Amino acid sequence: MPPIRRRCTPKFAVIVLLLWLFLALLFQLKDELRNLPPGAEVFVENDLDGSDFTSDQRKLITQNPTKRRTAVVVASQRTEDPSWLFTNFPDWEKNIYAVDNQSAPLTVPQNKGRESMVYLTYIIDNYNNLPDNVLFIHPNRYQWHNDDPDYDGLPMLRHFQLPYLEKEGYVNIRCAWSLGCPAEIKPLEEEGEHRAQVHAGGDYKQAFEVLFPGIEVPKFVGVSCCAQFAATRDKIRERPRKDYESYREWLLNTTLADSISGRILEYSWHMIFGKESVHCPSAEECYCKVFGLCNLECKERGSCTGRYILPPFSTLPEGWPVIGWQGEPRNRTAPET
Ligand SMILES: *[C@@H]1O[C@H](CO)[C@@H](O)[C@H](O)[C@H]1NC(C)=O
Ligand SMILES: *[C@@H]1O[C@H](CO)[C@@H](O)[C@H](O)[C@H]1NC(C)=O
Ligand SMILES: *[C@@H]1O[C@H](CO)[C@@H](O)[C@H](O)[C@H]1NC(C)=O
Repeated sequence: MPPIRRRCTPKFAVIVLLLWLFLALLFQLKDELRNLPPGAEVFVENDLDGSDFTSDQRKLITQNPTKRRTAVVVASQRTEDPSWLFTNFPDWEKNIYAVDNQSAPLTVPQNKGRESMVYLTYIIDNYNNLPDNVLFIHPNRYQWHNDDPDYDGLPMLRHFQLPYLEKEGYVNIRCAWSLGCPAEIKPLEEEGEHRAQVHAGGDYKQAFEVLFPGIEVPKFVGVSCCAQFAATRDKIRERPRKDYESYREWLLNTTLADSISGRILEYSWHMIFGKESVHCPSAEECYCKVFGLCNLECKERGSCTGRYILPPFSTLPEGWPVIGWQGEPRNRTAPET
């Protein structure tokens, strides 16, 4: 027997070596594959109940719920009405920027780039005294952007899970995939393209290179639309103030139309706050974690039954939600709160 074993030893060693190399390659490949194809799952599946808070976070959140400062930051035009925020969320700090009134107490250096000029101006001016949580939202209570069966911002914000925000650092305030997910913008493929006035794909790559110098331009960018999101003070301050100043400088400098420059930032916030370029959790998971709406029926990855449908027009009819699209009487789809 000894002679046979001696004869086999070199062959055996080679086999072991090959096997080892193969396994190493497999592990490497697994990591590569996790690098986000469009629509990839970004959240982990198994923490729907929020059980992975650290005990310190949990203590902070449960012992001291009222001492935490929460603020809303709103870009408002004269024609819009943010008063519902004052009546319904008395404890939240209100930062209502009047973009079209240079004498207003809160305004912007220039009305450019839609809501993004306001969001950046707020962060720059309050960088050293930020509240714990900041919600960046639009002024009107009823607007098609709102992820709610009646497009009502009130239940949307009432359901919003601040503890989940505190755990995540950044949360998009919309779960439905219609518009934005899984890959709204393909910066490389669409470079220079001008297919629609509202699509920023053609200008995205060039802007990205100025906004995020030294970072590789992603192939796909996706996040559910409309530039309503929340971030914690700690997350915002992971970047130095000068980053936000340079984003705003880009906005002030750019010759792009507001619809395009605004949209470029709309599809950048999630990356500014540390998420992957495609940030599209499944609607089921998102509704549960972000709004506490669990056990919904969700037949597709991007929608759950009865939660959100893209409206036929972007302006809601006068009298909504009790007047419908044809001027007919309408009942609310869901209760007010
Ligand atoms: C602009 O803001 C000032 C200061 O708050 C206010 O007095 C004025 O009425 C505003 N103008 C308009 C047109 O809303
Ligand atoms: C804005 O324009 C100025 C003057 O042309 C230039 O020096 C600066 O680098 C530009 N900043 C950004 C962020 O594009
Ligand atoms: C609204 O609800 C009431 C009470 O359930 C019902 O009687 C009425 O027909 C509904 N109206 C419409 C337009 O659906």
